[in-house]
Amino acid sequence: MGVLTGRRAIVTGAGSGIGRASALLFASEGAAVLAVDRDEQAVGETRAQVVAAGGRAEAMAADVGEEAQAAAYVQRAVDAFGGLDVVHANAGVSGGLTPLLEATAELWAEVLRVNLIGAFLAIRHAAPHMAAQGRGAIVCTASVAGLRANAAGAAYSASKAGVISLVQTAAAALAGTGVRVNAVCPGLIETGMTRPLFDAARARGSEGRIGQLNPSGRHGMPNEIAAAALFLASDAASYVNGQALAVDGGLSAMLPFSRAPHR
Ligand SMILES: NC(=O)c1ccc[n+]([C@@H]2O[C@H](COP(=O)([O-])OP(=O)(O)OC[C@H]3O[C@@H](n4cnc5c(N)ncnc54)[C@H](O)[C@@H]3O)[C@@H](O)[C@H]2O)c1
Repeated sequence: MGVLTGRRAIVTGAGSGIGRASALLFASEGAAVLAVDRDEQAVGETRAQVVAAGGRAEAMAADVGEEAQAAAYVQRAVDAFGGLDVVHANAGVSGGLTPLLEATAELWAEVLRVNLIGAFLAIRHAAPHMAAQGRGAIVCTASVAGLRANAAGAAYSASKAGVISLVQTAAAALAGTGVRVNAVCPGLIETGMTRPLFDAARARGSEGRIGQLNPSGRHGMPNEIAAAALFLASDAASYVNGQALAVDGGLSAMLPFSRAPHR
């Protein structure tokens, strides 16, 4: 029996990277999963992978930052599965690496719309279903960029700091309902979002230096974030609420350091 056996789940941004890994892992642990992504073909492929592995999944194209579409994907899961127990609000965009003083208000609005308002809308529409049954777990994907500067562009960092605040506020707002709200804060993970960085490093032959700033000495993989999201979504985290869990190889725990060869 899996840790999510009998649970009904939604994963957004499930067409790629962390979201796809999360959908596959949640399903392998027994959940029925609605995979949501704005890329219809990609999320259909995720669904096919879950089904091929023996799991149960539906797929739906939606823009998580549009309220009517957020309401629709939540309703779709409730209709398809008969209720809702878990949401991994994971869809996000990077907004690129435009320097702060060159970024436009339009860029900021779009990054905040998807990354922060998208997470808010997931909570806004999912939590009432969970509260009505007295049980639920919501996991938002934030980032180490929401904890410290210099991991990404300014709008992205602000959006992820907002997600960390959002899970604290939502956990407080949902006190007494049985609904927990937490964030996972990935470090550098190889996904569609970071592919240009990895491709450029491989082209330069410097891929071995990726991740050297954290004590684990490497970058992370999507399944390592999915594993943390699974923990936060499961009853193993029954007393974890309103937290931001860094899964970054130790990056956010360190001041800059140089690795001595004998250590
Ligand atoms: N890759 C990293 O190093 C890293 C680090 C920290 C946090 N994150 C966060 O992890 C989450 C997943 O990103 P990833 O790294 O797997 O990237 P990814 O690009 O591989 O996957 C993101 C998915 O989100 C979807 N998406 C984007 N905007 C959407 C929208 N408006 N509505 C619905 N779907 C949308 C994309 O189509 C894509 O399939 C994001 O929130 C990202 O900010 C990633």
